[in-house]
Amino acid sequence: MAQFIQRFHADKSAIRDELLSGLQEPQAITSPKYLYDALGSKLFEAICELPEYYPTRTEAAIFDAHADEIAASVGRGRTLVDLGAGNCAKAARLFPVLQPAHYVPIDISVDFLRDSVDTLQQRFPAMEITALGVDFSAPFALPDHVGPAQRLFFYPGSSIGNFAPADATAFLARLAQAGDNDGGLLISVDLVKAKPLLDAAYDDALGVTASFNLNLLNHLNTVLEADFNVRGWQHVAFFNTDQSRIEMHLEAKAAQTVRWRGGQRHFAAGERIHTENSYKYTAAGFAALLERAGFTLQQSWTDPQGWFMVCHAKASGNRP
Ligand code: AVJ
Repeated sequence: MAQFIQRFHADKSAIRDELLSGLQEPQAITSPKYLYDALGSKLFEAICELPEYYPTRTEAAIFDAHADEIAASVGRGRTLVDLGAGNCAKAARLFPVLQPAHYVPIDISVDFLRDSVDTLQQRFPAMEITALGVDFSAPFALPDHVGPAQRLFFYPGSSIGNFAPADATAFLARLAQAGDNDGGLLISVDLVKAKPLLDAAYDDALGVTASFNLNLLNHLNTVLEADFNVRGWQHVAFFNTDQSRIEMHLEAKAAQTVRWRGGQRHFAAGERIHTENSYKYTAAGFAALLERAGFTLQQSWTDPQGWFMVCHAKASGNRP
């Protein structure tokens, strides 16, 4: 039987404090994790189906084309620790080749994992499953029965791109220290490419990404008891070549004052809230980042166009 363990408990006042301090910065900013309320998560799923949003389907094609090589590199029968598992679909597609002995899907809320894990356990009755509700962006410990041996961390979707490079290095360094030398990391990263392709992937013709970004204001209205008028803002997303990152912003269409419980802020016309960064790497640049984090790259796979990369790395042993 699958086990469910919830360790993270949302602290509503800490969330309000974090959001309000960002909104009151001279250049207002919010963490991308607030894009994912219930509607935001559905809009993100829709983004993954868009013709312009190449990462999801490119990653799936790489996994399909190289499944046997990936399995040979990472090894079979591992403890597969799935960071940000959601509906567990990406890992599940690799089960037939990876044959994990123990599957450990992690997400902020174990409730997101319940239905998919129950279905998976029926399909793979012999596999041990431990579903964990933790905030893995902060240091976390795995339950005792998840031994350190043969741990394979799985971090797909190019989610690492949300971290600035120094924070990504620190995050991956914690993973390098959490496994034994047999363990490893299977991680995906989005690669630098022509700016028009990147711009379109984050500013699609249907406006789904715009809706995903604007929905943040609905979420803020709920959490902060604020009165953002969604119609008064517009989606801005572009590849910042100097920083090698997509930036998403919400831009005030006209001057306005927004009120929330306990405060308010005036936004001038054209003023922005910075809502997300999504860093893009060169293959060599990401290999160097893995090295700095204490990993050695074993093998990597890309699509024929070189748009996206899947990497297998192992802890180097010489810990930073
Ligand atoms: C979930 C962080 C990988 O950066 O491509 C998609 C989020 N934002 N479109 C990405 C996102 C706008 C996505 N990640």
